[in-house]
Amino acid sequence: MTEVPDYLLERSRQRRIALGLLEDDGSAGGATPEAAAAGGDSVSGPSSADVIAAAKADAKLEQVTETQLEPEWVIAARTRTKIPMWALPVMFFLPLWAFVYVKLTEPPPEPVTAITEGAATYAAQCASCHGGDGAGSEGGGVGRPLYNGEVLLTFPKLDDDMLYWLAVGSEGIGIGNPYGATDRPGGAHISGETGANMPGFGGALTEYKIYSVARYIREMLSGEQLSEQEIEIRDAEWEALGGGKDLGGGGGGGH
Ligand code: HEC
Repeated sequence: MTEVPDYLLERSRQRRIALGLLEDDGSAGGATPEAAAAGGDSVSGPSSADVIAAAKADAKLEQVTETQLEPEWVIAARTRTKIPMWALPVMFFLPLWAFVYVKLTEPPPEPVTAITEGAATYAAQCASCHGGDGAGSEGGGVGRPLYNGEVLLTFPKLDDDMLYWLAVGSEGIGIGNPYGATDRPGGAHISGETGANMPGFGGALTEYKIYSVARYIREMLSGEQLSEQEIEIRDAEWEALGGGKDLGGGGGGGH
């Protein structure tokens, strides 16, 4: 039989008393004295297995008590998940990412074409005299009508003749001189015959802007019909003059 230290025996005895298995005087509580006597070759008390079990139970109780010494919130702080190191750069770059994300999801700016640029130039430089729709004198303006094919009657082609008129105006042509098609229905138009003068735009507008506003009044206001190929040739001409290179500046400083 294993030697069991006295203090363990004593502790075991105390526990058995506490559990009601043993009376305070040392006699077995629930069990009959016969059984206790028959059970053991030792008379000195409980078997070593009992003692070890009791010691284990004791140890367990002590552990629980120790843990409970710490307040709940200390335990919570110890055991909660901490923010990992890699989260720092992530949080740092989050605003940058958000900015880039928003930028990328924005629709790209509309590309400038000869027509959109011409429309902007027209609104800024011409509409005051010729009207937004090109009605001109028929709509209360001082300029000639540019809608309903009128421009196409005066200038059958988008050629140097038309671009020159836009660049120099009535005085550049010379008051009293005809301009445009001489065989125009109703007779050739004569500079100054309306009683008002058309200013020249050669100084205010670049060549490609004069070209694009010419396209706008022909194709949009006067409804000129063009083949795909003719449009391609005009787009190429506009680009050759420098069109489409500066973004968003349409209108010659009009806005
Ligand atoms: C200050 C007023 C005024 C402005 C601004 C003006 N025009 Fe005119 N435009 C006129 C007048 C007036 C005439 C007629 C000229 C004449 O009788 O000598 C005219 C004539 C024309 C004609 C000839 C039409 C025809 O059938 O005879 C064209 C094309 C034209 N303008 C285009 C433009 C364009 C393009 C712009 C802008 C870039 C513009 N005009 C800006 C007053 C103006």
